[in-house]
Amino acid sequence: MTKGLLKGLTSYGDAGFSLFLRKAFIKAMGYSDDALERPIVGITNTFSDYNPCHGNVPDLIESVKRGVMLAGGLPMVFPTISIGESFAHPTSMFLRNLMAMDTEEMIRAQPMDSVVVIGGCDKTLPAQVMAVASTDIPAIVLQTGPMVVGYHKGEVLGACTDCRRFWAQHRAGTIDVTEIELISGRLCPSVGTCMVMGTASTMACIVEAMGLALPMSATAPATHADRRRIAEASGKRAAEIAISDAPKPSNLITDASVRNAMIVLQAIGGSTNGLIHLIALAGRAGVKVDLEAFDRLGREIPVLLNLKPSGAHYMEHFHHAGGLPALMRELTDFLDLDAPTISGGTLGDAIAQAEQVPGQDVIRSIASPLKKEGAIAVLHGNLAPRSAVIKHSAASPDLLRHTGRAVVFDSVEDMSARIDLPDLDVNADDVLVLRNAGPIGAPGMPEAGYLPIPIKLARQGVKDMVRISDARMSGTAFGTIVLHIVPESAVGGALAVVRTGDRIMLDVEARRIELLIDDAELESRLAAWKELPPQRERATRGYARLFEESVLQADQGCDFDFLLRDDS
Ligand code: FES
Repeated sequence: MTKGLLKGLTSYGDAGFSLFLRKAFIKAMGYSDDALERPIVGITNTFSDYNPCHGNVPDLIESVKRGVMLAGGLPMVFPTISIGESFAHPTSMFLRNLMAMDTEEMIRAQPMDSVVVIGGCDKTLPAQVMAVASTDIPAIVLQTGPMVVGYHKGEVLGACTDCRRFWAQHRAGTIDVTEIELISGRLCPSVGTCMVMGTASTMACIVEAMGLALPMSATAPATHADRRRIAEASGKRAAEIAISDAPKPSNLITDASVRNAMIVLQAIGGSTNGLIHLIALAGRAGVKVDLEAFDRLGREIPVLLNLKPSGAHYMEHFHHAGGLPALMRELTDFLDLDAPTISGGTLGDAIAQAEQVPGQDVIRSIASPLKKEGAIAVLHGNLAPRSAVIKHSAASPDLLRHTGRAVVFDSVEDMSARIDLPDLDVNADDVLVLRNAGPIGAPGMPEAGYLPIPIKLARQGVKDMVRISDARMSGTAFGTIVLHIVPESAVGGALAVVRTGDRIMLDVEARRIELLIDDAELESRLAAWKELPPQRERATRGYARLFEESVLQADQGCDFDFLLRDDS
């Protein structure tokens, strides 16, 4: 098999000349023949001034390089797109597949025998894993790691569950402008990813549980020495897998590891976005995620992790309590312990090394869980014939079975314009409905599913209402919020024909979300909707056109249809 600089020669019609030219140019950087004869480990540089969640990437790269060289490899760093959640317009999800394509094609285009992919912020880890799953060269994932916690008036706090909590208090008038500005400087006290169980932490745990990253890599804080040591160890292992036979992504992304990931997703109180990304990365390896099986697991697997937004603590506390291996030790009756990992052993081996931390309250036992069911339920009904999801571990228990009057917003813009109007006809027991916020409708499926409580209700002390949409929600958010309705309204899902004043029934125990009108009325409304002109002009060029023409629905991971593995 071709290795090192011989891989993927540039096509000049003369292989010898191609190699000669490649060596001549790379020697301009001062490399010796000895260095150029080593196995090559590619390292993705996802640093960007626009992405503070990746602010430690330069340090991590130095540590990875050291590890690669300690094991006799040649590290080669190359840039890829970086996506910072709060800096991406219209939404980071719109760009995830572009990043996955970029990473995939640059791995294919450049000679490397293995690769370390560095990701952290919500969409970057899924994009990197989707890319390596498609290239199927030996790969190891390195998370950037969570931020450390902040403090305000003696209270421990962090991004971004507390961002939303404080902002809601500011909207309700209980926190003034001066204090909210002070808080904004305390919510994110270091580089790294959000330190609650948001999407970034969820994906960090999923890749560790699937054996794609080293043990403890999900939780080590971004600025701790542990993180640098994990980076060095990742580089070392990447050099080893560049030389020897090692599990490839296709050996690691399997039915067994995807099921393990689903169990962990339920037990950590993970983000609903994690489910979309898991479907997408599994699809790249030809593995299908069974949503019904995921829901059944949710009835069996309790939430064990006492972390915000479902619980009380933060990621660094999870790390010091033993991290993911210690949590998975509680789940050994459910997990497939024979699943291989990139370390060379099995998941069982990683769990056997887990630390016992006396007196900790972050990782609960099966006998004493945080919530007796898992984090996420999959719903069906005439409003969501294919599926919808709710993170019921972070919802208000008294709203999990609720029937209310619909108050409908036609788009994110309509919602922003009207939600706080003093004359908006809305009551606390109504159901807020947002449509045209799905993968195609918005486009990019923004995290707009966490509709704000109308200000006049917030000022009366209302903290939660049932909210439903075809949008996504940040994993850091709390509320009784039904998301990812499929089919989305922009392609004629029933959400498109809900009218203000209709009644909607949510019953999480029965896994139902229903528009309470009869079938004939629903059919007639849908037929009339089909005759209407499109709600929004479609993109005519560029990536936006590619996105709108190719993106799949949420239950298919929002990947592009042409990027799935051929046989999936
Ligand atoms: Fe990057 Fe939260 S904004 S992880």
